[in-house]
Amino acid sequence: MRLLGIETSCDDTAAAVVVDGRNVESNVLASQDEFHARYGGIVPEIASRKHVETINAVIELALRKASRTLDELDGIAVTCGPGLPGSLVVGVAAAQALAFGRGLPAYAVNHLHGHLFANFLRDGERDQAPPQTPFLCLVVSGGHTDLIAVEAADRHRVIGRTLDDAAGEAYDKVARLLGLGFPGGPLIDALARSGDPAAFAFPRGLVRDASYNFSFSGLKTAVRYHLDRHPEDARTRTADLAASFQAAVIDALCDKTLRAAHDLGVATIALAGGVAANSALREQLRARAQRAGLALLVPALEYCTDNAAMIAAAAFYRGARARVQPDQLRVDPNFAW
Ligand code: KG4
Ligand code: ZN
Repeated sequence: MRLLGIETSCDDTAAAVVVDGRNVESNVLASQDEFHARYGGIVPEIASRKHVETINAVIELALRKASRTLDELDGIAVTCGPGLPGSLVVGVAAAQALAFGRGLPAYAVNHLHGHLFANFLRDGERDQAPPQTPFLCLVVSGGHTDLIAVEAADRHRVIGRTLDDAAGEAYDKVARLLGLGFPGGPLIDALARSGDPAAFAFPRGLVRDASYNFSFSGLKTAVRYHLDRHPEDARTRTADLAASFQAAVIDALCDKTLRAAHDLGVATIALAGGVAANSALREQLRARAQRAGLALLVPALEYCTDNAAMIAAAAFYRGARARVQPDQLRVDPNFAW
């Protein structure tokens, strides 16, 4: 089954062709980095207009790179939410027009399901088997930090989530405090490599709490208070601050994830979302999973951050649960798990 995936939930315009939810024939992404530099973040109105300008070219390129025509597709999968309403509507309208015009089935995909199912995509280098359920998935993105018990490919339960900021949001806010730029995750990731993670003792939110929930706003505030008292550290000890902040995020993420895996008795942990691209998180979760005798799945880097291949994968595995008539495709900015 060959699906065209379309993703426009935030500010990246993406399209991909994926066969059987695993084999990626193309994965195209147009990003709006030029605006990040100019405005220091995402401006929803600009993001929406950019999607309108690029969506057709991105879809055409995805088909061309896959050497496929619309006639060879079996369906159109699109992100319906959660995300920015003005951005989502562009992808949904494009998907609706294509599905309606071609008489193809449409799939209404939850962006978070997309991140989870990125773990089912075949990663060029490894010919790994699809994950065996049950497993535990830590979804860490710019808007979400959720622990998901995946009982079957089409059945899961949210067992924990952040009570305030998402992990990616904390990276972006702390990067701004340090004057680094946007998005902050990759910048802090790179800078932290030359810093001392033990230089500053920042708080690990909720680690002693019995729930599987997370909290990152206290950590962000601790970094801000530190900079209020020692403003010169933003220039002279940037790498140490980045490394110490990152260590606190990763400790909290790993502690809760390992505890949940132990309590649920699963043998496999999966990582997903933009923050899953973080090199230190990948390394530390791998090391801790190994010590605990657990398998760890991590998507290839290009499938961690927003992309359309994961949307096509989610549509394939969700199947009838995601399939709708083209005229029933609706934007749902608060689409819940
Ligand atoms: O999943 P994603 O691309 O979009 C959302 O659905 O939110 O995640 C974006 C988030 C941003 O907050 C970004 O700073 C973070 O992922 N991110 C990273 C890294 N790459 C992206 N955070 C830490 N380390 C990275 N290498
Ligand atoms: Zn995302």
